[in-house]
Amino acid sequence: MQEKEMRNIAVLTSGGDAPGMNAAVRAVTRFALAQNINVFGVNYGFQGMIDNDFWEMSYEDVSGIVNLGGTILKTARSEAFTTFEGREKAYHNLKQNKIDAVVVIGGDGSFNGAAVFSKEFDIPFIGIPGTIDNDISGTDYTIGFDTALNTVVEAVDKIKDTAKSHGRIFFVESMGREAGLLALGSGIACGAEVILIPEVLEQENELDRFIEIGIKNKKTSGIIMIAEGFKPGGAIRIAEKISEEHPELEVRVSILGHIQRGGSPTAQDRIAATRMGVAAVKSLLAGNRNLMIGLRNQEIVEVPFSKTEKAHRPINRELVHIHNVISKR
Ligand code: F6P
Repeated sequence: MQEKEMRNIAVLTSGGDAPGMNAAVRAVTRFALAQNINVFGVNYGFQGMIDNDFWEMSYEDVSGIVNLGGTILKTARSEAFTTFEGREKAYHNLKQNKIDAVVVIGGDGSFNGAAVFSKEFDIPFIGIPGTIDNDISGTDYTIGFDTALNTVVEAVDKIKDTAKSHGRIFFVESMGREAGLLALGSGIACGAEVILIPEVLEQENELDRFIEIGIKNKKTSGIIMIAEGFKPGGAIRIAEKISEEHPELEVRVSILGHIQRGGSPTAQDRIAATRMGVAAVKSLLAGNRNLMIGLRNQEIVEVPFSKTEKAHRPINRELVHIHNVISKR
């Protein structure tokens, strides 16, 4: 597709929100406007395409949002878009609004939806990875991860204060679905005693070792970081097991929850979002379709949707190893 043919694009955010999504919306809007392309925001993600919830965005509409958490476009996980009837309705509305292409900011579920849609209907999609989980194949980075990581670190630092004061062992659960990157990063940054993540199940041995050595050394406080997707169980289950086996320990659980999704994005998230937003519009102008903009080794890359499935961005095991070594007594 040539630049001349691109008159109107739509932008939407989909799936779980992530800090930095607004910075991406702003970059897409302003860069497209600078190329004389009209930009339509779609409220509530794919659901808004089905409900014809489009609004034309101006330069001013995205003023003062680069530092805001959440998404001004709202977001949703649309059930209706998983049906052909829903997607047909969305296509009809895109045509009615004369939309030539769509930029989707979201996770791999959103890209799967876009990929299905684009096989059925002739509208190009470009994806921008936005999720605190950082779990999308083909990109080193997803918008929101750094902010969420810093939120977890701040929370765990505070939990550590009270853990030490009372001599308690805290089991702290982070989000991340099946990915353990938030738990791994925060566990290293906070000096957690043990990190339990779905990618390295053997880590449970590290917990046994810590409890045994900790008790021998009368070390009575500690932080065990657990990713929500850790298969043997989340923080509650593991804490219950340890409590039963060692009633002499004072155990507490803290599930950090949705606090991890909010807050003003860090500089890293704002910069990544801005770069990716501009790259998405450039990619559309170059005639590309149905791919995700990513970052590999700090450079912008374009990854076909077929290669962005969650299936299973590998974790850096060296980090796990380093942590295990330096947290051993
Ligand atoms: O994908 C982002 C995420 O926050 C995951 O870490 C978490 O498992 C999930 O979304 C929670 O989803 P919801 O906000 O729908 O409860």
